[in-house]
Amino acid sequence: MKTAIYPGSFDPITLGHLNIIRRASGIFERVVVCIMKNAGKHSPMFTREERVEMARLVTQRYPNVEVTTFDGLIAEYARTFPEGAVIVKGLRANTDFENEFQMALINKKINPDLDTMFLTATQKYTFLSSSVVKELASYGADLSPFVPCEIIDDVMQRAAGNNP
Ligand code: PNS
Repeated sequence: MKTAIYPGSFDPITLGHLNIIRRASGIFERVVVCIMKNAGKHSPMFTREERVEMARLVTQRYPNVEVTTFDGLIAEYARTFPEGAVIVKGLRANTDFENEFQMALINKKINPDLDTMFLTATQKYTFLSSSVVKELASYGADLSPFVPCEIIDDVMQRAAGNNP
């Protein structure tokens, strides 16, 4: 089976992301989490390198999952897999659907060999996003239901304005 590329900005990675990664790792032989730039999102909480490091930390229990980053179009990145690859995305709600449908069609236009497959979000994470996590962190809320425990301190510290 092909490699699955799971692209996103992951700023920071959440339990919703991790749920998609775990399920994709059970379906595909190889899952490549690709941390990318979202042109619509400015001033990330974490640098790209920090996000890669955090994603590696929380996915290390999955032997067929790797984390990387790419500066460019996902449709072009997919071409670097000679054996082929599909994009995997999580779908939470109607609002995701419109954006994701548009992105899938654009990616297919740029790279006709590239398909996008969607995993429906687990119900308990349908409300969850990195933006919600950042908002909650800024109020000092308990993040344990939302982000992997290994990175809670990093998110709380960054939200409090503590840079390394
Ligand atoms: O987690 P996000 O922010 O919703 O992820 C969006 C992301 C990073 C997957 C999307 O912006 C993306 O694919 N960026 C890479 C550049 C690209 O290929 N843009 C065209 C997509 S139509």
